[in-house]
Amino acid sequence: MTKTFSVPRGTSDILPAHAHVWEKIERQARRLLNTYGYREIRTPIFEETELFARSMGQTSDIVQKQMLHLAAQGPKDSPPSQLSGLSLRPENTAAVVRAYIHNDLSRKESLTKLFYIGPMFRGERPQKGRLRQFHQIGVEAIGPGTLSPLLDAEVIALSVHVLESLGLKGFQLKINTLGSLEDKKHFTQLLHKGLKPYVPELCEDCRERFERNVLRTLDCKQKGCREIVQGLNVGHRYLSPESQKYFHQVTEALDSLGVQYEVSVKLVRGLDYYTHAVFEISDPSLGSQDALGAGGRYDNLVSQLGGPPVDAIGFALGMERIILALAQEEQTPPSVNVYIIGMDEPSLKKAFSLLNVLRREGISSDMSYRLTSLKNQMRWANKMGVRAVILIGEDELKRQCVTLKDMEKGSQEQISITGDDYQLLKDKLTQGS
Ligand code: HAM
Repeated sequence: MTKTFSVPRGTSDILPAHAHVWEKIERQARRLLNTYGYREIRTPIFEETELFARSMGQTSDIVQKQMLHLAAQGPKDSPPSQLSGLSLRPENTAAVVRAYIHNDLSRKESLTKLFYIGPMFRGERPQKGRLRQFHQIGVEAIGPGTLSPLLDAEVIALSVHVLESLGLKGFQLKINTLGSLEDKKHFTQLLHKGLKPYVPELCEDCRERFERNVLRTLDCKQKGCREIVQGLNVGHRYLSPESQKYFHQVTEALDSLGVQYEVSVKLVRGLDYYTHAVFEISDPSLGSQDALGAGGRYDNLVSQLGGPPVDAIGFALGMERIILALAQEEQTPPSVNVYIIGMDEPSLKKAFSLLNVLRREGISSDMSYRLTSLKNQMRWANKMGVRAVILIGEDELKRQCVTLKDMEKGSQEQISITGDDYQLLKDKLTQGS
């Protein structure tokens, strides 16, 4: 028997019945992001592995466990390792920063506002809402001297605005601050010192986090670990007065925009590049993979990757999770408006020329390209949810007309067409649209 192939684990086919949902989300997001002054950037879907390791951090879960390396390009290439070779992008902040530096964008404008929409790849264990190929809508605002609480508030508010504009309501925004690079170091030390006596009581993951990236112990979901960490009462003790003031200004600006949020001292984010504001939007209806999106400030990343010392902030929203939250999968697609049925060979030819005239007029239409029973074709037209059916048969051809069935009203009428003049019919079909 011939082998059949299934879609690779952790990926999915977006079939025509759902593609319109994707198209609508992308269109709406693009429109909104443009109104905030963001312009689209498209970068390759793979980059040097080292770019991701240097930006997200060698110890981050993504770099340690989830990178999808590309096979070596030829016998001379060294085999892929954690640092050599190319990898599919697990996220796009690093790639956008790489493009920002490579294309010298800092010289061209003081604040570069970029957005992207596209696939990302992580070798995770797939489950509902967690895929190996998923899609993000992301923004990055990068520029020298742009560390401003107003910009932070604008970017955070924008992430909320995008979700609201797509019709989502039940989500929650959590924000926190990691402070400056110095504060973050202080935070790490405090946590390390505080947790040391409890290491044997931590879960296996947290014992590993303690060694690799102690901040990640803060968002462990295990009850035991949560209680230990809460007991340390780290709060915002690690923040300098300047960082505290800055965070206060961010929350004030969010208040002035009417954005609802909760300050969560446990929110740290798993990527190394963040400093100051970090935020996450979750939707409890999604279950364990409940983060719709997340972001934060990353003022040191551009210089770390060899660029000028510029400030930056951004976020990314997960499209699959947005769609899950919208529960739009079951919606029927908007199909074509008009379906043409030819009832014999000569009528089929007439139907074909009419179809092409209607399409050129911008009237979305389709036809049955072969002869089958009228009953079958009407059933198909009903299933597609078309607004009108045009019937052409021997009688119609003889009388130079078509039968137009209005599927919403259930009425039908004959409309005259003389030769190739379909004007009357076109007028009828565009009435009220
Ligand atoms: P992230 O938290 O890794 O951040 O991902 C952002 C969002 O992408 C998540 O909240 C989630 O909705 C979606 N996502 C992540 N992994 C998966 C997956 N395996 N399957 C389905 N959806 C997923 C970033 O990627 C940062 N680059 C965000 C950022 C931009 N920070 C600053 N600028």
